[in-house]
Amino acid sequence: MGIDPIIQVVDLSAGYGEGPPVLTDLSVDFRRGRVTAVVGTSGCGKSTLFKCIVGLLRPLSGRVLVAGRDLSSLEEDELPKALARVGLLFQQGAMLNSTTVAENILLPMKEHTDLPAEVMDEMVRLKLQSVGLAHAAQKLPSELSGGMRKRAALARAMALDPELLLCDEPSAGLDPRTAADLDDLILSLKDTFKMSVVVVTHELASIDTIADDVVFLGRGGVLHYAGPLAGARACLVPEVADFFARRAVGAPEGTRSLLEVLKGKVIRPEARA
Ligand SMILES: Nc1ncnc2c1ncn2[C@@H]1O[C@H](COP(=O)(O)OP(=O)(O)OP(=O)(O)O)[C@@H](O)[C@H]1O
Ligand SMILES: [Mg+2]
Repeated sequence: MGIDPIIQVVDLSAGYGEGPPVLTDLSVDFRRGRVTAVVGTSGCGKSTLFKCIVGLLRPLSGRVLVAGRDLSSLEEDELPKALARVGLLFQQGAMLNSTTVAENILLPMKEHTDLPAEVMDEMVRLKLQSVGLAHAAQKLPSELSGGMRKRAALARAMALDPELLLCDEPSAGLDPRTAADLDDLILSLKDTFKMSVVVVTHELASIDTIADDVVFLGRGGVLHYAGPLAGARACLVPEVADFFARRAVGAPEGTRSLLEVLKGKVIRPEARA
């Protein structure tokens, strides 16, 4: 990769407290104007990487540049302004539950812009319309379905027209149809606003639909693959090949599928008699 990256991760080591680092000497670029799927087994450090990208977690060593800027080197009071260019959809889809959906989207605008109130109201209306929630503006987040809440959180992440959108498992817990709708939505936002998008996902169908590039992390945050989707599909690294062949990531050699095991145990009716 390396062509005009929106994110450059350079020799990044990151972790928590006294334990061993979660990520060790990770170097990878994310290309501008593309959708990159970040794939990897649970606990390998995908969300930790996101926290480093947005400067919420300071690296133990190395650095992360977003559009050429090292967010972790900024003072705490400078960070919000820099982050206004980055939309973040958390794994837990955090929204303020005490106030309406519209107000949730309005808040970042109030915080970061001096636009007249009626312009902001109009922008909120357009954001909600773009995620199909125009009718839900006055509802509380707790009154929405899971899929609607994800879309509302996406509208909020988009509030300030970010150049970079980070989504941590946006479709987790959604039914396949709603998840597919969310994929379409992410694609149309990318095309409409020429955004760079990074999505953590385990869903092959979703990766096929939205990803231009794939970054594949293994246990301990080891980088197994970074590059275009077609290359990931052809990648011979066992973990990557297994994933795209829809087998369990990291299943030991010779592990039989449940179906194979059951096949060996089928009791024929005559055997019961
Ligand atoms: N705030 C924290 N304090 C201490 N350890 C943490 C913290 N957050 C994450 N970890 C640890 O860091 C490792 C990586 O966690 P992380 O959330 O980055 O994984 P992930 O790849 O996003 O997993 P998942 O796919 O389950 O979301 C795990 O071992 C986890 O226990
Ligand atoms: Mg995670």
